[in-house]
Amino acid sequence: MNNKAFYLETFGCQMNVVDSERIVELLGGIGYRQVDEPDQASLILLNTCAVRDKAVRKAYGHLGRFKPLKERNPQMILGMGGCIAQQEGKQLLKEFPYLDLVFGTHNVHRLPELVQQVADTRVRCEETEFLDRETRLQLFPSRTGKEAFTRFVTVMQGCDNFCSYCVVPYVRGREISRPSGEILDEIRELAEQGVREVTLIGQNVNSYGTKEKEISFSALLEQVNAIVGIDRIRFTTSHPKDLSDELIGCFGRLDKLCKHLHLPVQCGSDELLKAMNRGYTRERYLNIVARLRQVCPDIRLSSDIIVGFPGETEDNFAATMSLLEQVRYAEIYSFIYSPRSGTAAADIKDDTPAKVKQERFERMLTLQQEISRQIWEADVGTVQEVLVEGESKMGEGQLFGRSTWNRIVNFSGPAELAGRLVSVRISKSFRNSLLGELLEYC
Ligand code: 5AD
Ligand code: SF4
Repeated sequence: MNNKAFYLETFGCQMNVVDSERIVELLGGIGYRQVDEPDQASLILLNTCAVRDKAVRKAYGHLGRFKPLKERNPQMILGMGGCIAQQEGKQLLKEFPYLDLVFGTHNVHRLPELVQQVADTRVRCEETEFLDRETRLQLFPSRTGKEAFTRFVTVMQGCDNFCSYCVVPYVRGREISRPSGEILDEIRELAEQGVREVTLIGQNVNSYGTKEKEISFSALLEQVNAIVGIDRIRFTTSHPKDLSDELIGCFGRLDKLCKHLHLPVQCGSDELLKAMNRGYTRERYLNIVARLRQVCPDIRLSSDIIVGFPGETEDNFAATMSLLEQVRYAEIYSFIYSPRSGTAAADIKDDTPAKVKQERFERMLTLQQEISRQIWEADVGTVQEVLVEGESKMGEGQLFGRSTWNRIVNFSGPAELAGRLVSVRISKSFRNSLLGELLEYC
């Protein structure tokens, strides 16, 4: 077994993906190299998600799988970070005697020292303290040496919205935005390194800079749009209540902004939207959608939907179904409500049987699958601009990239096209991807 080799598993959203990139970089800095097999590692880390019970159980399941490895090799260090670590803290060390290290969402930068400390002293440790604004501002994750044509760039972190079902404000802390100058410098550097597409990320990017009196998010997008070498811009996640007219206008104005927006509605019933503390009504949401389509007629939307929120009636659910029919999202990510302790909704009486929730969930999936199928099917025969990301899993000579709508497109072509924008005629639509023929490139 290599002395300084680590194995890392990442669960959850883009924020965790970026934190994991940082972990790789930090551990590289103290001589650790990443391995693909846990049994080759002297350090195993799980970067976890606490947003739903399923994600939590999955993380615990994976942790349990490493127990025999730890028993065979007591010198190995086993650590847990991310949102479960933040929420459970020391309790994890009590519950899992084979766990050595727990680090929170604000403590990733401390990992090298913590690992070293555990290695030297063999004393198990936990660090999940939230940091003050000043320190957090110093510690925004920034680019790593990873080679890719598409990159996430963190613009803000945390959430102040306290949707009644959501644990994120508790495990990620208050909103904090990164100075625009720093973001733009990072993107310029990325462009120089060959990155062609950036996705600006944060729990709620639409409220970027409000507290810091920074430029608005749309002004930031405008400046990113002007960076030479960047061909495409995306951003996520957007809260509908903070989507300004100015930002809507960007979809008509900024040539590099992709025509796709993830705009989670959560449900279609005003009664439930209120109980969820979402801060908008169905009408207001539909009005935003109409304005987006006015400025950018071929924009495609995606959404998150929660089924079975406490007290959801058949009528409430019907309102969500009719909203799906009205908006016609290209895609949705749907979840059955999962009570999270400490959140406001956890105290609301929930008398809908699990079977009814499951049945509603399936009805919704059936409806959405048909809508998505129709939208993607209509792509067949069209010519789409694709940013080539590299060789596809489909075999030699096959490339893959994404359309402006963030759909994977596979086609055959020479490997040197990676990183370039090409035109592809779509010949077939599958459930998760499109197949096409390369037309031309310049
Ligand atoms: N139960 C089910 N889904 C949830 N989400 C957040 N919290 C919960 C919960 N307690 C979903 C929301 C959010 C997405 C990231 O996860 O739809 O937009
Ligand atoms: Fe959670 Fe709502 Fe914040 Fe999104 S906006 S992270 S759903 S509290």
